[in-house]
Amino acid sequence: MTPRFWGDLYGRAALRDPYPAYRKIRDRGPAVWMPRRRLWAIGRYDDVRTALRADSALTSGQGVAANDLVNNRTAPITLTSDGDVHARRRRILIQPVMPAPLKELRPRLETEADRLIHGLATGNEFDAMTSFAAHLPVTVVAELVGLNEEGRRQMLHWAAATFNALGALNLRGLLSLRHLLKLQTYVRTLGRETVMPGGWAARLFDAADRGDISRAEANAMVIDYVAPALDTTILATGHMLWLLATTPGAYDTLRAEPDLIPGIVNESVRLASPIRSFTRYAATDIEIGDACIPKGARALILFASANRDERHYPQPDEFDIRRNPRDHVGWGHGAHSCVGMHLARLEMEILLASLIRQVGRIETGTPVPVWNNVLQGFERLPAVFHKAMTV
Ligand code: HEM
Repeated sequence: MTPRFWGDLYGRAALRDPYPAYRKIRDRGPAVWMPRRRLWAIGRYDDVRTALRADSALTSGQGVAANDLVNNRTAPITLTSDGDVHARRRRILIQPVMPAPLKELRPRLETEADRLIHGLATGNEFDAMTSFAAHLPVTVVAELVGLNEEGRRQMLHWAAATFNALGALNLRGLLSLRHLLKLQTYVRTLGRETVMPGGWAARLFDAADRGDISRAEANAMVIDYVAPALDTTILATGHMLWLLATTPGAYDTLRAEPDLIPGIVNESVRLASPIRSFTRYAATDIEIGDACIPKGARALILFASANRDERHYPQPDEFDIRRNPRDHVGWGHGAHSCVGMHLARLEMEILLASLIRQVGRIETGTPVPVWNNVLQGFERLPAVFHKAMTV
């Protein structure tokens, strides 16, 4: 008998706290049918990894949203492509976020981070999401993409709407369609004259001039940089700060042992899992554990559930600053694993390094959650940074 989950992962309760529902799904089986949204859910760590590696059976080319309307209108981007087309787009997209160009970027990020934290370490309250977590993505990364004024102004808004539209078509999803269309229309209007010379968007046009991708692909692939680069990093960074501030002893230990920084970034992204889930289309029948997802069905791959699977991580809900879970799936896994993970990691590591040098104690208040069909984390997080005695 096929295991079922009758709840709604796009309902208010699950959007606020999806983890009780994820646990039920994991306990019911490797692949669980959700009649209300007509989706299969895959929630266990091992099965999520298997599903993400099976990219010729569970495909992205027919979209990764949980609704047909958006899936039937996907733009020619990297996230929603398969096989050779995907590999070609990804090769071009990834170039500016490879380790060598990131090395050049490091000093600029360090200077920005030091200046930012110096300004915040006053003992006065601020909103850590807008004033701390958003700073590097919104200033440096948005500039590196090289969009014009309108694009930079709208980026965050469009990105959040895109993630809402990638969920189910509940009211939130429906209302966001208009903004997704605006983003798609905006990128179609871009050309050399409207993007910054040498920026990431301009590099896509260079690739089109060389004939590596079509001009339509170059325009659309700007979405690959705009949509997934900002909120994800902002949400992970905010969560990391909150975990450090609210876990007894964690921040003091980190200050005493800065080598823990890379592992703490991994552990924070595991627990934060800013992208809850994306779907795949079953191009053939596929077995996941003892379940068979039939050809033509859609499967929801629950990154956030896999990252809290007690079958894989002991005490999965705990922030363990020594766990260093290099194998988490918060950045995905397999062919579509995150193109920007080295950049996101660099931003988070640099912020932490600067924080422990300049800030002796962090206080945080009650966070206000983000309401989004696909993203999770905080909209607002009150915080106070107390200056370190010895800077
Ligand atoms: C903490 C920050 C981030 C998180 C948690 C995150 C998460 C993810 C996840 C879960 C996927 C897998 C999607 C799938 O399997 O369908 C993904 C893919 C992707 N991410 Fe990220 N991401 C982050 C930062 C970034 C940044 C900074 C960029 C851009 C510079 C970026 C660009 C992309 C792109 C283009 C893909 C699609 C890759 C492909 O289809 O081959 N991400 N990301």
